[in-house]
Amino acid sequence: MSASLVEVRDLRVSFDGMPALRGVDLSVGRGEAVALVGESGCGKSVTWLAALGLLPAKAKVTGSVRLDGQELLGAAPAVLDHVRGGRVAMIFQDPASSLNPVHRIGRQLTEALRLHRGLSGGAAREEARRLLDQVGMPDARRRLDAYPHELSGGQNQRVMIAMALAGRPELLVADEPTTALDVTIQAQILELLAEIRRDTGMALVLISHDLGVVAETCDRVLILYAGRVVEETRTEQLFRAPAHPYAEGLLAALPPMGGPRRPLAAIPGSVPEPWAMPPGCPFSPRCSRRVAACDTVPPALRPVVEGHRAACIRPGGGQARRATALPELLPA
Ligand SMILES: Nc1ncnc2c1ncn2[C@@H]1O[C@H](COP(=O)(O)OP(=O)(O)O)[C@@H](O)[C@H]1O
Ligand SMILES: [Mg+2]
Repeated sequence: MSASLVEVRDLRVSFDGMPALRGVDLSVGRGEAVALVGESGCGKSVTWLAALGLLPAKAKVTGSVRLDGQELLGAAPAVLDHVRGGRVAMIFQDPASSLNPVHRIGRQLTEALRLHRGLSGGAAREEARRLLDQVGMPDARRRLDAYPHELSGGQNQRVMIAMALAGRPELLVADEPTTALDVTIQAQILELLAEIRRDTGMALVLISHDLGVVAETCDRVLILYAGRVVEETRTEQLFRAPAHPYAEGLLAALPPMGGPRRPLAAIPGSVPEPWAMPPGCPFSPRCSRRVAACDTVPPALRPVVEGHRAACIRPGGGQARRATALPELLPA
């Protein structure tokens, strides 16, 4: 048994020769909750779609993804079928795209239970009801006979989570699971995920473009930028002393307690397109701490302090929120 549940090493993905992931390394421990954060297009979804063999055939994927030591990249379809929905489950932003509109909720749940646990008949139906109960669905027994369109967005997301739990996964990858929901329901779904994790010991990867969403739910945060991990540390350490200027910007963009959401005003510009990747640090064109050396080679992910790594030659020293508000003009 290896130390981590999942080990991803030098994962690279390109589409039509254009790199989308440019060497991602990450690990997820048993029972651990890890956040994967970055603006849209950074490669968060592609990382897990590649890991689980869900990308279209035209995607070129290299590197290594091990589940409990077993290599998944290039594994036989039968092996991947067993892993997906079984040991590793994935839920997506939009339940409507994953639930079948013409089948009742109960039928979709019992089908998942048949596939992953070999349950059928009354046993499957009873377990489906239990799962709906577990995800906090009111009046679960009656809801088994409902169609997805008869439920609210938040209720459908609960059904998706119940479907994911049907296979008793060791890891749940939740890809922007609350983005389509309003703030109150979003908080309920995150609390539900945290609760299920406490009860089952399941590991969780929570993907979001919003650092605020994942902060309370996750032990550790990985920040992705332009297809690479640029910062990795424990959640409280990231909030106390972010090292990468991109992480500083994400933090500076968070709303004050109870205040309204703000756009990413602290970071002007946008993620570089794959065909226009700068030769040095991909964040350099947007960076307030940029010096000439930043534009020579992409910085490697290096330790800043114990348990905290960042891909920056001038990592910050804990005064991040102030530093981003007052862009420094330091000589090269
Ligand atoms: N099926 C695909 N074909 C071509 N390009 C893709 C495909 N899926 C993702 N990409 C590209 O890969 C990059 C990363 O995408 P993605 O992982 O979806 O970002 P996000 O961080 O928003 O989840 C983007 O530039 C996106 O356009
Ligand atoms: Mg995505």
